[in-house]
Amino acid sequence: MSWVLDLQGVRVRRETTMILDGVDWQVAEGERWVILGPNGAGKTTLLQLASTRMHPTAGSVEILGERLGGVDVFELRPRIGLASAALADLIPRGETVRDVVLTAAYGVTGRWTEAYEEFDEDRARDLLAAFGVDTLADRRFGTLSEGERKRVQIARSLMTDPELLLLDEPAAGLDLGGREELVAALAELAGDPASPVLVLVTHHPEEIPPGFTHLMLMRDGGVLQAGPVEEVMTSQNLTEAFGVPLEVSHDAGRWTARAAR
Ligand SMILES: Nc1ncnc2c1ncn2[C@@H]1O[C@H](COP(=O)(O)OP(=O)(O)OP(=O)(O)O)[C@@H](O)[C@H]1O
Ligand SMILES: [Mg+2]
Repeated sequence: MSWVLDLQGVRVRRETTMILDGVDWQVAEGERWVILGPNGAGKTTLLQLASTRMHPTAGSVEILGERLGGVDVFELRPRIGLASAALADLIPRGETVRDVVLTAAYGVTGRWTEAYEEFDEDRARDLLAAFGVDTLADRRFGTLSEGERKRVQIARSLMTDPELLLLDEPAAGLDLGGREELVAALAELAGDPASPVLVLVTHHPEEIPPGFTHLMLMRDGGVLQAGPVEEVMTSQNLTEAFGVPLEVSHDAGRWTARAAR
């Protein structure tokens, strides 16, 4: 069995703090993962490892069959899509939406003098349409609403047709309608067998799209539980992860949590 992600005994230390400590995680072809946990749990750090933006202090990280440390990360990166607030900050505000998506083909965030193939132009247009933002193609990225920006970022992260797609809090800052539209778009992505392996980071069970198969609960730089969503998403586990008494419920493929009565 070859894993899409295989982390063994991973530690990340910054100064005197262990921000990830003893993380084991295996992700197989076809799986759709949610990583849920409170602020500071280590979720973004984990995605930074999985996207080759960081190396572990100890332990091993294998991505798409390649071991971090023994591979040229610039060869691996086009195979991995990433959408995160940190990456969004690198996108020039004056760039057109079309170019924001198109420049991903070259792994850059600002259009310079690259020549793009018609094939790339078509793919960028299709991806913008898939996320309902094709009418914004000529707008400047900096003029978009938060929700429009999130959708453009996800379209951008799919531009290289990655085998692994990592989304760090894609619904953060969206209003209720925007969140629900994004959840629906991600549910559709999750249900398509041609989609890459998906990993979605969030703080809220309400943001888990139907069709996501696995859940990791993180706390204090460690994995509390990981496995099929239905097994891991219990009131007891969520209470332990967030450190407050919580009650979980599940209805029509969606999850909610609130303070236990
Ligand atoms: N360079 C650094 N030096 C010291 N501490 C760091 C550094 N980078 C991250 N940390 C700490 O590591 C912990 C985990 O950070 P991380 O960003 O991975 O958490 P997170 O689960 O994504 O949190 P959030 O939900 O708030 O985004 C935090 O306590 C953070 O302050
Ligand atoms: Mg984070």
